[in-house]
Amino acid sequence: MTKIAFDRRDRLATSTAALLNRLRGVSARPVPTDVRVSSAFDHDEEPDYYGGVLGGATTIGALALDPAVQREAWETLERLQADEYVAYVRDYVAAGRNVAGGEWRYADVVTVLGAATRLLHPSSYLEIGVRRGRSMAIVAAGATTCSILGVDLWQPGYASMDNPGPDHVRQELQRVGHTGTLELIKGDSHEILPRVFVERPSLTFDLILVDGDHSVRGARRDLRAVLPRLRIGGALVFDDISHPSHPGLFRVWQRAVVADRRYSTWEFDDIGYGVAVAVRRW
Ligand SMILES: C[S@@+](CC[C@H](N)C(=O)[O-])C[C@H]1O[C@@H](n2cnc3c(N)ncnc32)[C@H](O)[C@@H]1O
Repeated sequence: MTKIAFDRRDRLATSTAALLNRLRGVSARPVPTDVRVSSAFDHDEEPDYYGGVLGGATTIGALALDPAVQREAWETLERLQADEYVAYVRDYVAAGRNVAGGEWRYADVVTVLGAATRLLHPSSYLEIGVRRGRSMAIVAAGATTCSILGVDLWQPGYASMDNPGPDHVRQELQRVGHTGTLELIKGDSHEILPRVFVERPSLTFDLILVDGDHSVRGARRDLRAVLPRLRIGGALVFDDISHPSHPGLFRVWQRAVVADRRYSTWEFDDIGYGVAVAVRRW
C-alpha cells in the first residue's frame, strides 16, 4: 500500500465524518481528523506505509489478558480508597485463578485501560462516566503527565453505589501521582460534549473511555460524539458490552464501531460485564 492510497482513504474518511457530524449536529466545524497519537510510529524515511499505527485492538486485548499488566492495574486500585465493587472483583479474580490457574481468562475496563495506556503512553484522555475515578486512576497512574478531561453527572446512588463527585476523583488521582492537567465537568455528556467540541474544534485524544449513559440511545450518542475526536492510532474503550442490565450495548458497539472499517476491534465478553476496545487505523 502506498502513501498516496493512505491519503485518499483518509480524505474519504474525513469528508464522511464531517458530513455525518453535520447531520447529527455534533459540531458545525470540521474536525481535525488527520492527527496521529502522540506515540505514533515515526519512520524517518518515506514512504510511510502504515500511517504510524503501531498496535491494534488485538495487541491491546492480548496485553489486557497478560497477568503482569493485570497485576499492575490491580496494584493501582489498591492505592485508592476502599470500594465495595473493587473488593468484589479482587476476590473474584483470586477465586478464578485458584480454580483455573494460568488458563483463567478475564478482562474488564480496568485491565483494558491499563493495556491501552502501556501501549500508547497517552498524552490526552477523555472519559465519559467517571464515578469514583477508578478507571481514570488506571490511565493517570500509567501516564502521570497525561491531560485528562472527565464528564459525569455524578448521579447520587448510581447503580446502588456511592458517587462522591469530582473532589473525590481529584484526591484519587493525586494518590496515584498524576501531575498532568485535570478537567472534571459535571453535567450530561450529551449536552457538555457538543459544547466543548464547538468551543475547542482542534481537541483530539489518544485514548477515550465511553462508560456513562448506558441506555442504547445514550451510548450511541456518546460514541458518535467522540469517535471523530479519536486520533489515528488512538484507542476507544467501551464498557459493559455484556452487562445483563444493558443487553443492547453490544449491538450499539457493533453498529457504531465494528461495522466501520476504520477501526480494528477486540471484545471480551466471556465473563463479568464485558468490555470492548477499538483502535483507529486511518
Ligand atoms: C458505570 S459508572 C462509571 C464507572 C467508571 N468509569 C469506573 O470504571 O469506575 C457510570 C457513570 O456515568 C454517569 N452518567 C450516567 N449518565 C450520564 C450522562 N448522560 N452524562 C454524564 N454522565 C453520566 C453516572 O453518574 C456514573 O457515575
